[in-house]
Amino acid sequence: MRIDVFTLFPAIFEPVLAASILGRARTRGLVGIETHDIREWATGRHRTVDDTPYGGGAGMVMMAPPIVHAVESVVTASDEPSPPVVVLSASGRPFDQPMARRFAALSQLVLVCGHYEGIDQRAVDILGAEEISIGDYVLTGGELAAMVVVDAVVRLIPGVIDEGSIAEESFEDELLEYPHYTRPASFRGREIPPVLLSGHHANIAAWRRERATERTAERRPDLLRRRP
Ligand SMILES: C[S@@+](CC[C@H](N)C(=O)[O-])C[C@H]1O[C@@H](n2cnc3c(N)ncnc32)[C@H](O)[C@@H]1O
Repeated sequence: MRIDVFTLFPAIFEPVLAASILGRARTRGLVGIETHDIREWATGRHRTVDDTPYGGGAGMVMMAPPIVHAVESVVTASDEPSPPVVVLSASGRPFDQPMARRFAALSQLVLVCGHYEGIDQRAVDILGAEEISIGDYVLTGGELAAMVVVDAVVRLIPGVIDEGSIAEESFEDELLEYPHYTRPASFRGREIPPVLLSGHHANIAAWRRERATERTAERRPDLLRRRP
């Protein structure tokens, strides 16, 4: 899979993309991730990428031409069919695990990070982009949001992590994951649940299922209501 990220701040990405599971997935050639500085497509002496909003109001808006030219010159010229373009936006559709699975099945994905008050709507419309939000809060820029999406997607690419770990994770089967325990068996007077030491696989599976259901009912009843 190839992921192209368009941003005004490419330097933010490298430490995250080089570390841990993402870094290993890149080294092993399971995913190629490239960042592109939108400012390189800005024109004029000052390479301006933003301007005041039409209609007035506070803040600056990212101009459409540098974004559209950047995405078109890097991606659509060489790729057939053109890959989906995703714009990170607080007012986008909520990003969730099914969406992460959908993106992980693609051979290419394009992410565009906004900044300031956001980006000129015509850039979104011309690129036919899908706007997505990583949660009901406002970030300074789309960079952290894009890294969240990249991380959630890349770990679902076959071979990146153990398939078994994914199958039992939160949001699979509309349940949050059960609690985990590891050594030592006793810590500050707290013992691990005895069933986990029983070696009885069916009982352990049933206990985990109960804890997962209990936790989901308490913290995320909306997920349980979504179950078939
Ligand atoms: C300060 S925000 C703009 C917020 C915008 N004026 C609004 O009220 O919806 C700047 C950029 O951060 C990114 N951003 C902020 N919150 C986000 C969220 N919850 N999910 C995804 N991207 C977000 C977007 O790329 C956005 O263009």
